[in-house]
Amino acid sequence: MTKNKKISRRNFIRLLAGTAAIVAGGSLWGLRKTPLGRDLETQARNLLQDKQTQYLRQLVTEDNNHTRRIMWAAESPMTNPQVCLRGQAESSIRQLFVPKDVSFTDDGENHRQYSAVMDNLNPDTAYEFSIRDGDAQSDWYPFRTSAEDKSKFSMLIFTDSQSSDYSDWRNVAQNAIKRHPEAEIFTNLGDLVDNGEDSSQWRAWFSALDGIIDKIPFAPVMGNHECYDRNWQERLPEGYLNYFEVPDNKSTGFGRYYYSFDYGQVHFTVINTQEEEIRDIRPGLMEEQLKWLENDLNTTKQKWKIVLMHRDVLQYRISRIPERKEGFSPEGILLMPLFEKHHVNIVLTGHLHTYRNRGHILQGEHNAHGPLYLLCGLSGNVRYDNLWTDHALDKVVAPQPETDNYLIMDVSDSEITLRCFLPDGKQLDEISIS
Ligand SMILES: [Fe+2]
Ligand SMILES: [Fe+2]
Repeated sequence: MTKNKKISRRNFIRLLAGTAAIVAGGSLWGLRKTPLGRDLETQARNLLQDKQTQYLRQLVTEDNNHTRRIMWAAESPMTNPQVCLRGQAESSIRQLFVPKDVSFTDDGENHRQYSAVMDNLNPDTAYEFSIRDGDAQSDWYPFRTSAEDKSKFSMLIFTDSQSSDYSDWRNVAQNAIKRHPEAEIFTNLGDLVDNGEDSSQWRAWFSALDGIIDKIPFAPVMGNHECYDRNWQERLPEGYLNYFEVPDNKSTGFGRYYYSFDYGQVHFTVINTQEEEIRDIRPGLMEEQLKWLENDLNTTKQKWKIVLMHRDVLQYRISRIPERKEGFSPEGILLMPLFEKHHVNIVLTGHLHTYRNRGHILQGEHNAHGPLYLLCGLSGNVRYDNLWTDHALDKVVAPQPETDNYLIMDVSDSEITLRCFLPDGKQLDEISIS
């Protein structure tokens, strides 16, 4: 939650995360020649090209019925990169897309990466894509477009995967997708990494999602830890902004900070709560966002409205700080009236590293007509055991001391069901709205 860390811990994280990235890299993402060659020359070339499709990721787009974005990192420049698209189980390529070079420099490193949008897709259709460069080609990766009238889909929800060792994040995410292979999309509600400038943490974070983020689209949410530099000073979240090319919000100063998208019959609004970290460097984030938010929530025609954001709407007491009162956070005071006005169904938050189901709240009190507020816990190894005092609005609190958790959200025509699980698969909570 806070930025008070010690240098020694940070260096330890870097060492661990760097090691994990080296171990996990390479063979998972390797380009390979098609068909596979057996000779030494080909093996040498494949080895060389192993580093050319690292951290391959699918990202949500504004229109997930007809488009899908992919991004990936490459160790050296690609000479003629192309993304090949075909229907699932087809042998012939339907379309080729030329990616943009979206390389950037951060943490003293040049991050070479590419980004492409596959467009003109048919809704609710199974495809495969592959990355080609000259005569080398990657594996084929399946994906499926959503459908406007699609009544059913499932989404995995994680938050606060920030860690000193990303193996817990790997275990939570990999076990979640094993238990819920039906998940079509996933999110992480911010503090993806502990230090937003530390490239080795980003590599470990991506590596932990092998077989997930390359298969289903990711909807990222920015947290405060994305906005810290290596000296734990606030900075613009260069890493986050460059790794995730999210839907355009038409902002000139805060592009990719906040955004919205439709999936099935749900309108997802991703709100940025990092005003505190950003305002001294670039003022005006919340003021601009509020205008956008009013319009976004007002104009959507989707059946369900779900908000994803990092900081929570409630303020919790902490026993060792008696002056801190129970109530509503600055974000809650500002945003809850808007959520009520625009009939938001569900608000999902993180940041406090504790799972709390507060039920439906309207005008500060429990009321079935208000939005459902779920504070999701954590999916990394930064734990605040027994830190928070229970809030009068809490309905379900995770057992203390707290371990990781994740949620699966099943959306249908008539209801949305959220189930919260501990890492071992034990169900902690279940909530349905209709
Ligand atoms: Fe956090
Ligand atoms: Fe946070």
